[in-house]
Parts: sequence; C-alpha cells; structure tokens
Amino acid sequence: MTDYYRNKIHHDEIIATFDDILIVPGYTNFNPSEVAIKSKLGKYDFNLPIISAAMDTVTEIEMAIKMALFGGLGVIHRNCSYEKQLEMVRIVKRARSFVIDDVATISPNDPIAKAKYMMENYNISGLVVINDTKKVCGILTKRDIPFTEDHLKKGTVKEFMTKQVISISPGASREDALNRLFESRKEKLPIIDEKGFLRGLITKKDLAPEFPFASIDEDGHLVCGLALSPKFPETIQAQSMLKEIDKYVDIFFIDVADFYKKADIEGTIKLMNLLESEFVLGNIGTYEAAEHLISKCDFNAEKFIGLKVGMGSGSICTTSIQTGVGAPTLYATAQVADAITDYNPKISLVADGGFKNPGDLPKAFTAGADFIMSGHFFAGCTESPGYIDTIQGRKVKVYRGMGSKEARTSGYVSDRYTEGSKVLPEGVSDYVPFVGDLSGVIASLREGLMNSMIYAGAKNIQAMKKAKIGIVSPVGQRETRIHDLIGAQWRI
Ligand code: IMP
Repeated sequence: MTDYYRNKIHHDEIIATFDDILIVPGYTNFNPSEVAIKSKLGKYDFNLPIISAAMDTVTEIEMAIKMALFGGLGVIHRNCSYEKQLEMVRIVKRARSFVIDDVATISPNDPIAKAKYMMENYNISGLVVINDTKKVCGILTKRDIPFTEDHLKKGTVKEFMTKQVISISPGASREDALNRLFESRKEKLPIIDEKGFLRGLITKKDLAPEFPFASIDEDGHLVCGLALSPKFPETIQAQSMLKEIDKYVDIFFIDVADFYKKADIEGTIKLMNLLESEFVLGNIGTYEAAEHLISKCDFNAEKFIGLKVGMGSGSICTTSIQTGVGAPTLYATAQVADAITDYNPKISLVADGGFKNPGDLPKAFTAGADFIMSGHFFAGCTESPGYIDTIQGRKVKVYRGMGSKEARTSGYVSDRYTEGSKVLPEGVSDYVPFVGDLSGVIASLREGLMNSMIYAGAKNIQAMKKAKIGIVSPVGQRETRIHDLIGAQWRI
C-alpha cells in the first residue's frame, strides 16, 4: 500500500511564520545599557542590523544615505538603467553626513501659498530661493510665512524671503559650518559656490548631533549597497559600466525572487569574477538551496558574504497566492541558518520581508538571522522615493512590489521573476501611511529589538540566536494581540 501522497500532506514539516511563535523570556544578568545590536556582513560591522529593501518605492539616494547614517544599510533598487544606478551610488558615496544635496527650492515670483504647501506637505522647514538664472537670491523659512489670509492669497515669495543670505562655501568642514551658524544664530546654511549657484544645504539639526553609529568604509564614506540582476551583461559597454559602478558600491545584492537556479548561479559566478565588491545572494528559502550554494557552487569564496532569505511573505507579495509556492521568512531563516552553521558560519544571513511589527525582528534573530531587510517599514518615510498623497484625509505614499504590473512594465525587473512570464503579476501596488522621518521608525525598531533582547536575556545578536522560542496555539495568537477593546488598532 502506498503512502507517498498521504505522507506528503500529513508530514511533520510546519511552515511557521512570525505570528506562530513567541520568544520565551530568559534570565537577564546585564544592564539594559550593555545590550549590543552590532552585526557583521562581510568586512563591515554594522551598528544597526537593519537593511532597507531594494525596491523603487523604498531605496534610492535619500534612503540609502540615511540608513547608512543610522548604522544600517540601504540597498538601492535595480528597476532602472546602469546609468541611473551609477548616478545614485556616486551620490551616496560622496554624501557627507551633514550636507543635504537635494535641496528644496522655490522661485521668488512663486506664490507664498505654494511655499506654505511645500513646507507642510513635504515636511520641509525652509526653502532656498533661486532666480531665473538658477542663482540663490534668498531664503524662506517657516517663520517667514504670513498668517493673514490676504497675504497668503496674494503674496509672492520675494516679499517675505530674507534677501541677505548667510551662506558657506563648498568643501567647508563641520567645524566651519558650526561656527558660521553660531555667529549668525541661523538654523540653515546654504552652500553657494563662487558663481552664486546652490551646491547644498547644511542645517543645524543635521550638524548636531553627528551620527556616531554611521556605517562607514575605510575612507570615511558611507557604506552603499546595490541590487543587481544575476544576468551577466553581454556587451563590453555594459560590463565597463558595471565596473565603474563597482567603484562606489561596497556590497552587491543579487536580487531575484528565487536564486536556486542554474542560470542565475552561473551568471553570478561571472559577475563575481568581473567585480571587486562583496556579494549577498538571494533569495532562497530552504536548507537544500543554501547547502547547494555554499558547498557545490564555484562562487569566489572571499566575495560571497551573505545569503538573503524569504519567499512569498512580503507585504506586497502575491507569489504564494499566484503560484502556491513559498518559504516565508521565519521558516526560510531557520532552514538556511542550519545550513550556514553546517557548511560555513562566516556567511551572514539576511532575513527579508514579512515584518509587520517591531517584535517580528527579534523573532528573526532567534531563528538565526544576522540582519533583517524590510520594505514595508520604510516605504512610508519621508526619505523613500515618491510624493505624499492624501486619501480620505490621511497622508500616504505609494508602495509597490517589484513584481507588480506597475513596476514590471519598466522592463528592468522582468527577470526578477520567472523568465518569460508576462501576464502573472507576483506583487501589488498600494499605499502605506506616511510615517514621517526614518529616524522615528528606526527608533521604534531599535527599541523593540533591544527590549526584546533584555526580556530574552540576550546581550547581543549571537546570544539572541540561542534564545528559546515556543509555538503559539491559534487561541494564544488571539490573546497575544490587542483584544476585546472597542476599535483599537495597532501599527508602528
Ligand atoms: P515587505 O517588507 O514585507 O514588504 O517585503 C519586502 C521584500 O519583498 C523585498 O525585500 C523583496 O524581497 C520582496 N519583494 C519585493 N517586491 C516583491 C513582489 O512584487 N513580489 C514578491 N516579493 C517582493
């Protein structure tokens, strides 16, 4: 009598996700101030084990800079040309922590109401005023906006702006800027070159405090991640463009939905031979895939620094719905962590997607992750690409899966999913609430993680990997959420 199919359905393998488990409290024999959340990826120690996802509504220049300043990493997406990628990584690498490169500007003849709208909706406290020849002619801060309706209706920027602009030259040091701001008692310092053109903006808020936990390379520049297709570019021009990009990137993230494929592995081996920087490969979801990649493939051992895991549990992901296949992030993490322990403990594990609450992060670490990657937490931040919209009185931003119809029509990410697949989207495009600056989101995530480690009795990430977990029954899952209240909803 055969039992092949019955065993297949009734087998012991449970695909557990974040809500299925809780971390069991442990003995804490240290002070809260001693908790350390440092984690290693290749040659870098990151002070924040958090990475922003390689998605076109999550990580471009601003997000990559801020993530690195806070001690984590931003991975710039690949839904664009190599030229655009080069432009973005160059800016991230050249960014100084206290200089804003992408300054909000306005014309002196614009209505003052426009300035008010920009300040309120884009969370900006000041605008640099630029004339028709693109030279700086004034500065307008929130304090300059008039209160009276009449002024607001009829006034123009030039009537209210400060014309005597206190500025600083390009290349000024942090100390020069601090002195200038103190002498002038100003909050903002446009950087203006000798011809009168705007080169950036320094704000008091960004100067003090500095970013002591920033992820920086040997030369003091911010660490930069970039997503790549595993396909090896055919033309010499494309290859030399990639080599140019390589100069500004520290870690490449091979970015496909399912990396456990012969063609992707072969393409990546060639990319690793062409480029100097380190590589994280993904995504995968099983022990067997990790075992194969670590022990049976010919990757350059020094450059192969990490595996990214999780399939089908992203908030915008419809892969599991459309194909019935999935390895949700918690499950994938535990699977791959075992293979890493067995075959090469130097490889770091990035748990990617599916995080809904700060408490999901520590769960991934207990399952063996070294880093977590999220798009969902960051898509609604000021620093993500795209504008703030309003829907039914709520401020929102667009967040879209790279497998959504909208993202795939660009053509650059069509090879992220099944090659040749044209009609089946594996992601959706929707809105997330606007949540303000990244700093607030990072503060919640960091605190959730650290408090979890204190409860679990784990002083660092390695100790957290040893924390015990328990499976929560469906009844227990209800009890661990907010319950029996009128209308309470929880979100970060
Ligand atoms: P989230 O933070 O839960 O929204 O998940 C983000 C992760 O989902 C990304 O880092 C990608 O690995 C993955 N992802 C991005 N776009 C798509 C998609 O369209 N379909 C499936 N997975 C996606």
